[in-house]
Amino acid sequence: MPHAVRIAVVTGASSGIGAAVARRLADDGMTVVAVARRIDRLDAMAADHPHIVAHGADVADRGAVDGLAERLRAQFGRCHLLVNNAGVGGGAFRGPESVDGLLHTMQVNFVGAVHTTAALHDLLVVSAPSQIINVGSVSGKVNPGFIATEGFPQRRLVASRVARLVGAPSDVAAAVADVVVSRARERTVPRWYRPLMALRHVVPPLFWAMTSRTSRARGTRDA
Ligand SMILES: NC(=O)c1ccc[n+]([C@@H]2O[C@H](COP(=O)([O-])OP(=O)(O)OC[C@H]3O[C@@H](n4cnc5c(N)ncnc54)[C@H](OP(=O)(O)O)[C@@H]3O)[C@@H](O)[C@H]2O)c1
Repeated sequence: MPHAVRIAVVTGASSGIGAAVARRLADDGMTVVAVARRIDRLDAMAADHPHIVAHGADVADRGAVDGLAERLRAQFGRCHLLVNNAGVGGGAFRGPESVDGLLHTMQVNFVGAVHTTAALHDLLVVSAPSQIINVGSVSGKVNPGFIATEGFPQRRLVASRVARLVGAPSDVAAAVADVVVSRARERTVPRWYRPLMALRHVVPPLFWAMTSRTSRARGTRDA
């Protein structure tokens, strides 16, 4: 396989967003390894498109994901793009009886993405500049920005000229208390961060330019 061929892995590729992403990337010339449990669907996609390769795997099963990585190593030796898209719904907590469903959703949507990213890490590194795209969801977020806490002390930012941008845990507590009452679906804290979040959606390049300056001031150690 010549290195000019770019390899993409798309999980959850047997339907919906993942299938559309897999077809689009393949149309754009990438060789796409389409991953899901329903291998019959993936085989049909592969039969329809010369750049799609079907691979049956359950992303919640670490052994199955390791098997995917072994196949990629043997067949391609590269992975330029990983799209973590596999996911199931039904993750809402509706009482003790919903816990099994919630854990299953986390196992597929979150742990599955962690498994896949870890298993393909060496291939992504050797293929640099490579990329990981995680398909998330807009639902159910409270977004703390830079909040100085024991676990996230924000030392460099606090010592920099933009120290006033760092919030306090009490800011988040106030926001949480407010959300309890207002039932807002999303809240961003500290308050100054909100226009920035709007900017993120309206003028993304400006948002990323501003946050990369802040990240430089913040350093990489305070996660
Ligand atoms: N559609 C929305 O409105 C929406 C909104 C927010 C977020 N999302 C996210 O977008 C992503 C794609 O969802 P979709 O709307 O395209 O839904 P979908 O049509 O149901 O597709 C889900 C895909 O995930 C795969 N999948 C499920 N469990 C899996 C497992 N254990 N291992 C491997 N693959 C698995 C399914 O394939 P198999 O069943 O063949 O395994 C299927 O290909 C999900 O992560 C979802 O949370 C969707």
